[in-house]
Amino acid sequence: MNEERLIEKAEQTHRLHKEEIIALLTSESCAAALRAAADRTRKTYVGDGVHLRALIEFSNICKQNCLYCGLRAGNPNVERYRLSSEEIYTFAKNAKSYGFKTVVLQSGEASHFAPDEFAALLTKIKSLDLAITLSVGEKTREEYGAYKAAGADRYLLRIETTDRELYGRLHPGMSFDNRLCCLSDLKELGYEVGTGCLIGLPGQSAASLADDLLFFQSIDADMIGAGPFIPNGDTPLSRASGGALAPSLRFIALARLLMPDINLPATTALETLEKNARVAALQAGANVVMPNVTGNGCREKYVLYPGKVSVGEAPEASRASIAEKIAAIGRHISGEYGYRDRRKTLYTPSKRRD
Ligand code: 5AD
Ligand code: SF4
Repeated sequence: MNEERLIEKAEQTHRLHKEEIIALLTSESCAAALRAAADRTRKTYVGDGVHLRALIEFSNICKQNCLYCGLRAGNPNVERYRLSSEEIYTFAKNAKSYGFKTVVLQSGEASHFAPDEFAALLTKIKSLDLAITLSVGEKTREEYGAYKAAGADRYLLRIETTDRELYGRLHPGMSFDNRLCCLSDLKELGYEVGTGCLIGLPGQSAASLADDLLFFQSIDADMIGAGPFIPNGDTPLSRASGGALAPSLRFIALARLLMPDINLPATTALETLEKNARVAALQAGANVVMPNVTGNGCREKYVLYPGKVSVGEAPEASRASIAEKIAAIGRHISGEYGYRDRRKTLYTPSKRRD
């Protein structure tokens, strides 16, 4: 089947075989048509609203040693911090006052708080009438259960890559099977589950990225965060070449076509590659942006990769600047919590809602 036909098939059926995905992931000539099809699918299934999620990076302390990440335990060139639960609550309250409907609490992987204290914080934040997303790494099922009961709604845990061998090389001391287990625990506990991967890792093939997409489909992920790998000078991968914008946008477009009703963020890492790349992602299937609302000079220390945008920008300013960009492409900021609106029936022309 030629590539135009493959795009049509994807738009109509939301199903592709691995070889078909590889063909579209690697085709430069069809990229514009692929983005346009993803944009139509986005409009049909999730509409023109863009969900803003307020990101609070509450600690950069991490016990893991992911080879690509600046926060890895083995990096001595990071000034480590952990916000108190009062500070986190204050940032959440501020986020609410700026108009956010969701806060994302993100940190490196470590025992930052006793589980009871963290659960109490979640309950307090929940009383602000905010949806809560956690992104704090691999925990026990019990801990995940306690946080869900305390008020957490969603959880982000990227698989990073579904290539077991590559996963093993990039994540010393970590277990691919445990990560899968965490994702299935989170689903079973009733979280909306976000996962995702890095694009352009050393040794990662288009076939491996196609497997990532099929994996996300197979676990019925509610959200996919995918962005380019950006080499960090303080890591063992400092000399690697990293991911590029064009293949990242093709990946995002394919994610929308294959999983039409999910939430799909335009990731910050994209913007590091090129100014306005998040807007390009919003026009290639994405419908979520996560402005950073961490204050107290902590953002500068949360250096996963160099050149992270909006470092140094006030939280209100980063919301305002993205709001302007969203309006400029004829979209609007959603006033809803932005839960996944699951569509049982796949797209047919008669069910189209514009
Ligand atoms: N480039 C891009 N993304 C990165 N992450 C970590 N290090 C990098 C990097 N160098 C991503 C990982 C992690 C998320 C919080 O940040 O995918 O899941
Ligand atoms: Fe830690 Fe996450 Fe960075 Fe890995 S990607 S080193 S777990 S902060």
